[in-house]
Amino acid sequence: MKLLRSLQLVALTSFASAYITKDGKVIIPGASSFNGLNLVPQMGWDNWNAFGCSINETLVLNTAQKMVDFGLRDLGYNYVVLDDCWSEGRNSSGYLVPNQKTFPHGMKYVADKVHDLNMKFGMYSSAGIYTCGKYPGSLGYEQKDADVWASWGVDYLKYDNCYNQGQSGTPKLSFDRYNVMSQALNKTGRKILYSLCNWGDDNPFDWAYTISNSYRMSGDIYDSFDRPDSRCPCTEAIGCSWPGFHCSVMNILNKMAAIQSRSQPGAFNDMDMLEVGNGGQSDDEYKVHFSMWAMNSSPLLMGTNVLTLTPANLAIYSNPAVIALNQDPSGSVGIRKWRTITKDGGEIALWTREMNNSDTVIALINAANSTMTLTATAADIFLDQSTAGSFAPAPELSESWDVYDLWGNRMSNDEAATVLNGTAPTIEATSNSTTRYNATALSYADGLNANNTALLGTKVGTMAPHGSWSAKLDRHSIGLFRLRQASNNSKRKRDEL
Ligand SMILES: *[C@@H]1O[C@H](CO)[C@@H](O)[C@H](O)[C@H]1NC(C)=O
Ligand SMILES: *[C@@H]1O[C@H](CO)[C@@H](O)[C@H](O)[C@H]1NC(C)=O
Ligand SMILES: *[C@@H]1O[C@H](CO)[C@@H](O)[C@H](O)[C@H]1NC(C)=O
Ligand SMILES: *[C@@H]1O[C@H](CO)[C@@H](O)[C@H](O)[C@H]1NC(C)=O
Ligand SMILES: *[C@@H]1O[C@H](CO)[C@@H](O)[C@H](O)[C@H]1NC(C)=O
Ligand SMILES: *[C@@H]1O[C@H](CO)[C@@H](O)[C@H](O)[C@H]1NC(C)=O
Ligand SMILES: *[C@@H]1O[C@H](CO)[C@@H](O)[C@H](O)[C@H]1NC(C)=O
Ligand SMILES: *[C@@H]1O[C@H](CO)[C@@H](O)[C@H](O)[C@H]1NC(C)=O
Ligand SMILES: *[C@@H]1O[C@H](CO)[C@@H](O)[C@H](O)[C@H]1NC(C)=O
Ligand SMILES: *[C@@H]1O[C@H](CO)[C@@H](O)[C@H](O)[C@H]1NC(C)=O
Repeated sequence: MKLLRSLQLVALTSFASAYITKDGKVIIPGASSFNGLNLVPQMGWDNWNAFGCSINETLVLNTAQKMVDFGLRDLGYNYVVLDDCWSEGRNSSGYLVPNQKTFPHGMKYVADKVHDLNMKFGMYSSAGIYTCGKYPGSLGYEQKDADVWASWGVDYLKYDNCYNQGQSGTPKLSFDRYNVMSQALNKTGRKILYSLCNWGDDNPFDWAYTISNSYRMSGDIYDSFDRPDSRCPCTEAIGCSWPGFHCSVMNILNKMAAIQSRSQPGAFNDMDMLEVGNGGQSDDEYKVHFSMWAMNSSPLLMGTNVLTLTPANLAIYSNPAVIALNQDPSGSVGIRKWRTITKDGGEIALWTREMNNSDTVIALINAANSTMTLTATAADIFLDQSTAGSFAPAPELSESWDVYDLWGNRMSNDEAATVLNGTAPTIEATSNSTTRYNATALSYADGLNANNTALLGTKVGTMAPHGSWSAKLDRHSIGLFRLRQASNNSKRKRDEL
C-alpha cells in the first residue's frame, strides 16, 4: 500500500469524485477500464512512423509473421495496427470500402490472417469528416463504421482528430465527439480497444478515461531526441492550445511530468508510437526513449520497419526488464523528482516509480551534452513517502536497497542476430535466459512474482540507508535501475537470537 502514501494520490483526489476507502483503497468512479480492456498498456506495431501511406496487405501480414518469428509477439507486442490511407471511400450504402489495389482480399481476410497468428488487428479513422490523409472520416458515420470494423474482426481503433469541423475547443465538445464512437464500438458487442488520438487537445487526460483505453497527450512525435521544432510549440501538456507535430522525445517526456497522475489501469496517457529503429537518434538516445515510454506506462507501439530490424534495435525493443516495467500490474507511472537545465542548454533529471511488488525504479537521465555523474539520493527517491499527509521520514529511508541495472541484461548484437536469422532457441516459462522472455508462456505479473532474472536486470550494488545511487552517464543516455529492499541481515540475526 506504499502507493497510497504518495503524492500521486494527493493529485488523484483532485478528480471531483475520487475518494479513499477506510482500508486505503482509492476509488475513482469510472476509472477502471470502461470496457474491461487494457489494464496494462497496449503493445504492438503501427505502420505510420516508418511507412506513412505506403501500405498494403503484404506489408501488414509479413510484419505480423516476423513479429512472431522474432519473439516480439511473445514479448507482448500483439496488436498489429494499420494506420491511415487504407480506404477508397464509401459505398452507396455509406459503408467504408478498403482500397482494392492495396488490400485486394479486403480487411476481413487481413484480420483473419492476423488472428491465425494469435495476434490482434487494429485499424484507424478520424473523428472528423476526413482522416488526416484526406480519406473519409467517421464523423457522422460512427455506428456504420464501428459495425463494419466489428464485422471484419477488428480489435483496436486508433481514432484521430483531423477535420473535426471545429467540434473542439472545450473538453465537453471533444468528449461528446469521441464519446459517440465509444458508444458505437460498445454497441457492436465486440471488445475493441479504443485508442484516442486527439493530441492532448482539450485535456483528454481529464475526461477520456471514462470512454477510452488510451489517449494521446501531445502532438505527434518525430524521430529526434531533443531538437525543438516550431511546429510543436507547447512545452507543457496543460493549457496547450496548439499541440502540433514534430515533437521530440524530450519534449513529450517533459509534458508527462505534470499529468502523470491521469494514467491508470485501463486508460493510459499515450506518448505516441516509438521511433526506435528509424535512424534519427543514437543507440543511447533510443534507450532513453524506450525506457521513459516504459517508465510512464505509455502504450508501446513499435513504429519501425520490422522486416529490416537491426540486431541493436531488436535488442532495445526486446529488453524484457524494461518491458516488465511498462507491463507492471500496478499501472503506476513515473514521477519526475527533479529536472535541472544544464549550462550547455541540455538538461538532467531524476524520475522514480513505485512497482506493484514494492520495488522502486529510478531513471537518471543525462540529456546534457557531455558525460556526467548523476546522483539520486534516498531522500529524493522516497520523497513522496515522507510528504504524504504530515511530514514524517519514510521508513524506506532506513532500509538498504539492492540495485539492479535494467539495461544490464540487454541482448548482445550476436544473440539478437540469432533471433533475427531464426537460429535462437525457443523460450519457455522454465527457460533460464537472462536476456529473452516469453510472456505468452509466463505473464509479466507471474514472472515478476517469481523473480525471473530476465525481468530484474543485473545486480550492480546496494544503496545504504539514507544513502544515494550514482551513475556515470554519457551524453544523451539513461541509467535505469530497479531498487529492491535488501534482506536485512542485522535484523534477521537479532530475530534469530
Ligand atoms: C507494399 O508496401 C511496402 C512498404 O511500403 C513496399 O515496400 C512494397 O513494395 C509494397 N508491395 C506491394 C505489392 O505493393
Ligand atoms: C457496402 O458495404 C457493406 C459493408 O461491407 C456491405 O454490407 C454492403 O452490401 C455494401 N453495399 C453496397 C451497395 O455495395
Ligand atoms: C459496453 O459497456 C458496458 C458498460 O460500460 C460494459 O460493461 C461492456 O463490457 C461493454 N461492452 C463492450 C463490448 O465493450
Ligand atoms: C502485486 O504484488 C503483491 C505483493 O508482492 C502480489 O502478491 C500480487 O500477486 C501482485 N499482483 C499481481 C497482479 O501480480
Ligand atoms: C554538443 O557536443 C558536440 C560535440 O560533442 C558539439 O558538436 C555540439 O555543438 C554540442 N552542442 C551543444 C548544444 O552544445
Ligand atoms: C535493518 O532493520 C532495522 C530495523 O528495521 C533498521 O533499523 C536498520 O536500519 C536496517 N538495516 C539495514 C542495513 O537496512
Ligand atoms: C545466425 O547468426 C549468427 C550470429 O550472427 C551466426 O553466427 C550464424 O552463423 C547465423 N546462422 C545462419 C543460419 O544464418
Ligand atoms: C512462447 O511460448 C509459447 C507457448 O507458451 C510458444 O508457442 C512460443 O513459440 C514461444 N515463443 C518463443 C519466442 O519462444
Ligand atoms: C532453470 O533453473 C531452475 C532452477 O535453478 C531449474 O530447476 C530448471 O531446470 C532450469 N531450467 C532450464 C530450462 O534450464
Ligand atoms: C522474490 O524476491 C523477494 C525479494 O528478494 C523475496 O521476498 C521473494 O520471496 C522472492 N520470491 C520468490 C518466489 O523467490
